[in-house]
Amino acid sequence: MSNTLRAVRGMNDMLPADAGLWGRFEATVRDWLKSYGYQELRTPILEHTALFKRAIGEVTDIVEKEMYTFEDALNGENLTLRPEGTASCVRAAIENNLLFDGGKRLWYMGPMFRHERPQKGRYRQFHQVGIEALGHAGPDLDIEHLLMGARLWKQLGLAEFVALEINSLGGAESRARHRQKLIEYFEAHKAQLDEDAQRRLYANPLRILDTKNPAMQDLVAAAPKLMDELDDEARRHFDAVQQGLHDAGIAFKVNPRLVRGLDYYNYTVYEWVTDKLGAQGTVCAGGRYDGLVAQLGGKPAPACGFAMGVERLLALMQEAGTPLVDDPLDAYVVNVGEAAARFALQAAERLRDAGLKVALHCGGGSFKSQMKKADASGARFALIIGDDEAQAGEASVKPLRAEGEQQRVKLDNVAQLIKD
Ligand code: HAM
Repeated sequence: MSNTLRAVRGMNDMLPADAGLWGRFEATVRDWLKSYGYQELRTPILEHTALFKRAIGEVTDIVEKEMYTFEDALNGENLTLRPEGTASCVRAAIENNLLFDGGKRLWYMGPMFRHERPQKGRYRQFHQVGIEALGHAGPDLDIEHLLMGARLWKQLGLAEFVALEINSLGGAESRARHRQKLIEYFEAHKAQLDEDAQRRLYANPLRILDTKNPAMQDLVAAAPKLMDELDDEARRHFDAVQQGLHDAGIAFKVNPRLVRGLDYYNYTVYEWVTDKLGAQGTVCAGGRYDGLVAQLGGKPAPACGFAMGVERLLALMQEAGTPLVDDPLDAYVVNVGEAAARFALQAAERLRDAGLKVALHCGGGSFKSQMKKADASGARFALIIGDDEAQAGEASVKPLRAEGEQQRVKLDNVAQLIKD
């Protein structure tokens, strides 16, 4: 047996080779969020287990079988690694009284944890970017979120690879009516229900509609539709959302079977899906959850939001061949000799003072081997310093990516030369 320690299954390192892609994604996302006036919120990765049970729902896959839950050995508290961000966001808003002066538009980015069976696009530690608008009741906010999604896909070069599916889950009363009809319908066809569905029949019959079991597809297709139970207000809200999408020219499909795997939703729910990533094709999902703030002990406040899976979007960007913005080093500082090494440290700092991106060669070695490293670093210039140059307070600047002569100049003039 090998003694080598490995990462936990389903939890990945982000390697330097992928840093460009992650960096480009995160920079685009931050600008996009700013352009809509959203503010960042960072919450702890650990929360009390009760938070997720109450927010996501006891009879959901996430709470029943996917949470990393443990007892804190030091004080016996029951804690869970966050499986998603909405619950934490609402908890933090209530605890810190963030809604005291009206609605808030918030965003977060970071790792989430679900003990699922790992496969392409499905991990046990994955990353989400999420937004939550707390305190806004109208369909204008749902529309804003859908427009935001559409804009981001465009900015990431993904517009033609994702499609939007929406549904309305209605309010509490229509859901209760629909639930009763569903139970009656499935009771009448009990023999056709698989084990999962039998278990959910009374606890969460809506989730039966979400089944992937091929043998149950006909049964589910003919089940009573929540859409038929929507009251006037829910219908008006849903119509307004669709009108907003039409006005903005965003294509969508109404999918009456879209129910989501978390219990806090009402009214609008939606998913952005792609057929380019195999089975794990949902890259972004969310909707309205008007009851959650009150359910977690806050003063009632409507809310809506969504979260996207970063790994899935990056995979899609690679699939789509989204060009990466090249952000190379400006200079690699080659130094041969003892005096040169000391001078090179100062020279590199001076260039950084001037705003340049600089890697300093450390650890000595021949001129030839250092030049090879300079080339491999991707830097635009090699800054060459020997004892001779060090003594004169100068450096030789050699272009590595373009034609041009090597020039020896005073250190004071190097930054300008490189910038020009
Ligand atoms: P969710 O649908 O559970 O919703 O997750 C949102 C997105 O996270 C998914 O569409 C998917 O892209 C990504 N994701 C989920 N699980 C995994 C996994 N195991 N591996 C890789 N990616 C994954 C929520 O989490 C809600 N909090 C969204 C929301 C925000 N609703 C309102 N506000």
